[in-house]
Amino acid sequence: MDFPRFRRTRKNAWTRDLLAEYKISPSDLIQPFFIVDGVDIQTPIPSIEGQYSLSFDKAASAIAQAQALGIKMVALFPSISPELKDDQGSYAFHQNNYFVKGLKALKSKFPDIGFMVDVALDPYTSHGHDGVLDKDGNVDNDKTVELLAKYSLLLADSGVEVLAPSDMMDGRVQEIRYQLDQHNFQSTMICSYSAKFCSNFYGPFRAAVGSKTLGSSIDKSSYQLDYRSSKEALKEIAQDISEEADMIIIKPGLPYLDIIKQASEFSELPIFAYHVSGEFAMLKLAANAGYLDFNQAYEEILIAFKRAGATGIITYGALDYLS
Ligand code: PBG
Repeated sequence: MDFPRFRRTRKNAWTRDLLAEYKISPSDLIQPFFIVDGVDIQTPIPSIEGQYSLSFDKAASAIAQAQALGIKMVALFPSISPELKDDQGSYAFHQNNYFVKGLKALKSKFPDIGFMVDVALDPYTSHGHDGVLDKDGNVDNDKTVELLAKYSLLLADSGVEVLAPSDMMDGRVQEIRYQLDQHNFQSTMICSYSAKFCSNFYGPFRAAVGSKTLGSSIDKSSYQLDYRSSKEALKEIAQDISEEADMIIIKPGLPYLDIIKQASEFSELPIFAYHVSGEFAMLKLAANAGYLDFNQAYEEILIAFKRAGATGIITYGALDYLS
């Protein structure tokens, strides 16, 4: 028989390992943590298996563990109690905001691991939108951008190195960059959620930060991208690059590999895929039902992100995977 023998290199584990083009290393993974006010709190988050609402002291232990495993950056999200929320998200700017204050103390303990923090008002607003509303109930772009830039300065002052605007307002990267530079935070980086789709997969996260309960819904389609198009995502990415973003995020992850691939072909910026809460939950539920092996399926997904061109992945399973 005369045909090429492609199976020759697949026969042994060592050749397969030797020739594998993509591998996951700890520096590829960014681990999110949810932070609540208080001490000695470590409460499981039912909607995101394996994740906890942590007080800062407990978050410190988790971050130390992440650092020991070789993770280079963590993403920290506040989870604010409902009585502190209002329609303006004012607690974000409160001088006693436990999150902003606690970040400063935490950062001083961890100079060598990056902190990334979302810039959006949804953890603070009673309605759960990422910004403030105008009199017609629409998210007010320019007013929101102003507030986000103000919040960015508070985070930068706490020592957060990577600000991640996740709000999808127009012009926010430019304004945040401008304000940072004006206030001597030239080295604070912006990792923009450039292509954030209006997705059905954010439910477990919204339940975790209390911006919506599971089963209820919120319509963010007037600012997040419509998943029936891809060109608009590329337009957003190009715009954020021109506004001097340092890195970009594409979100959700797996259903948007085409966007990651296209972005990696035209953009020189590092791209992070956000493997979001709903994607993670689907995998956990399937694994818990015995339909697949979590670790193996998870690794397959991480590799898919790398193949598509992602520099790294924001993912809830990072710590467990590396442990
Ligand atoms: C908020 C924000 C969301 C997520 C990250 N930042 C939710 C939303 O836009 O409503 C979702 C992350 C996830 O589902 O894992 N701006």
